[in-house]
Amino acid sequence: MSALAALDRPVTAPNTNRLRGFVTAFADLLAATRDEQAILESGRALLSRLIATDDWLPDEFAQPNPDRYQQYLLHCDSRERFSVVSFVWGPGQSTPIHDHSVWGLIGMLRGVEKVESFRRLPSGALVDEGEELLHEGEVDAVSPRIGDIHRVTNGLSDRPSISIHVYGANIGAVERATYALDGTPKTFISGYANSVIPNLWDRSKQS
Ligand SMILES: [Fe+2]
Repeated sequence: MSALAALDRPVTAPNTNRLRGFVTAFADLLAATRDEQAILESGRALLSRLIATDDWLPDEFAQPNPDRYQQYLLHCDSRERFSVVSFVWGPGQSTPIHDHSVWGLIGMLRGVEKVESFRRLPSGALVDEGEELLHEGEVDAVSPRIGDIHRVTNGLSDRPSISIHVYGANIGAVERATYALDGTPKTFISGYANSVIPNLWDRSKQS
């Protein structure tokens, strides 16, 4: 960046170059392989690198809502092969038990999530598979192949937590299901909390 450009740029501007690099690398990965295990392994490394530095998420996509958790679309691949969202939890907020239908990677950017995993028997009943905490810098994976049903709660009772998710589809448009404790499914399409997405493509702000 030139000295003049540096003067024009607020020191607090989010480093969206980092997110652009991530989505470009992810598109390259999906062009190279459609093997889910390979995508999850290499994608985990890419997402770990993205969330290792917390300087790139614009504030608009980090805002909690007092009524419910927020899913902000950050990027959707033009062929809907993958999407990237920020998931923002207010204190104490929780999802229903739900599935995803596609592979997903979940990286913890700020705070802590409690993840309760479930397995569904052929009878439709849910089996509790235990819970774990996801801390800053850690990445979790889901897919129908490796386990896809969970309930997620903000692990912090006094402040928001934020995770960055990558899914193998335009996740806000995917028909999937929530589950009652007895395993009864209910279909839903999540949509997104935002109507505009971050501008990752203004290269005049490239550092
Ligand atoms: Fe989930």
